[in-house]
Amino acid sequence: MNGIYLIISKLFPFVLSLSKDSERLFQDYRARQATKQTLRTRIFYVLTLFVAALVSCRQEMADQPNYRPLVESDFFADGRSARPAIAGTVARGQLREDEQFYTGRLGGEAAATFPFPVTRETLYHGQQRFDIFCSPCHDRVGNGQGMIVRRGFRAPPSLHIDRLRDSRPGYFFDVISRGFGTMPDYAEQIPPEDRWAIVAYIRALQLSQQAAVTDAPENEQRRLRESEP
Ligand code: HEC
Repeated sequence: MNGIYLIISKLFPFVLSLSKDSERLFQDYRARQATKQTLRTRIFYVLTLFVAALVSCRQEMADQPNYRPLVESDFFADGRSARPAIAGTVARGQLREDEQFYTGRLGGEAAATFPFPVTRETLYHGQQRFDIFCSPCHDRVGNGQGMIVRRGFRAPPSLHIDRLRDSRPGYFFDVISRGFGTMPDYAEQIPPEDRWAIVAYIRALQLSQQAAVTDAPENEQRRLRESEP
């Protein structure tokens, strides 16, 4: 309705003057339009202020003097913008004071003991890790005839040869941590605690291949004798 009055007022001003009612309606319409406009203007100003405030915040932080990573610098004598860590700095969670636990060595020699007590859980965990990480080459018993070897990879020595039966736990830890000849290292894939669990399980495997039936508990012995081929 208001639109129509607007058009009429523009085109035929004399028509309006004929009707008092329509004139009142038209004035009312103009007044409401004006209110709307002031509201819009206000919102516009508030938004402009808000955006200006944001931009000025960004400005201060963006204009700080800083270097992009690895960029050259003539401020420091060595020409590098990045400062090397101060000698002896240890990143959070990277303190490796326990030589035996992290390197498998004690006083520079392969450790003859485990850094923590070996429990039944340790052995089960070691078995699971061994089957995942080592059995593809060493096979599940440790004879060195894993699936990858059967497909042509260099055969590792059996874990049951005298030399390896006499090797210290720390030596196996070292082989897993740093690799050996063709064998890659597993330092990235296997955390130290799991490496020790694997070593413990290798000890169990070695025992299993040399054990006599009489080594088993009494109640197990009969069962073993019956199942013997
Ligand atoms: C990709 C195959 C492969 C995997 C997986 C592998 N090994 Fe080996 N390993 C070898 C080969 C090959 C050798 C022999 C390397 C050589 O003589 O050059 C070897 C050698 C060894 C030796 C004997 C070192 C010595 O003094 O003769 C030990 C112990 C050993 N591996 C333990 C492990 C353990 C524990 C794992 C699992 C964490 C593992 N390996 C995983 C291939 C593998």
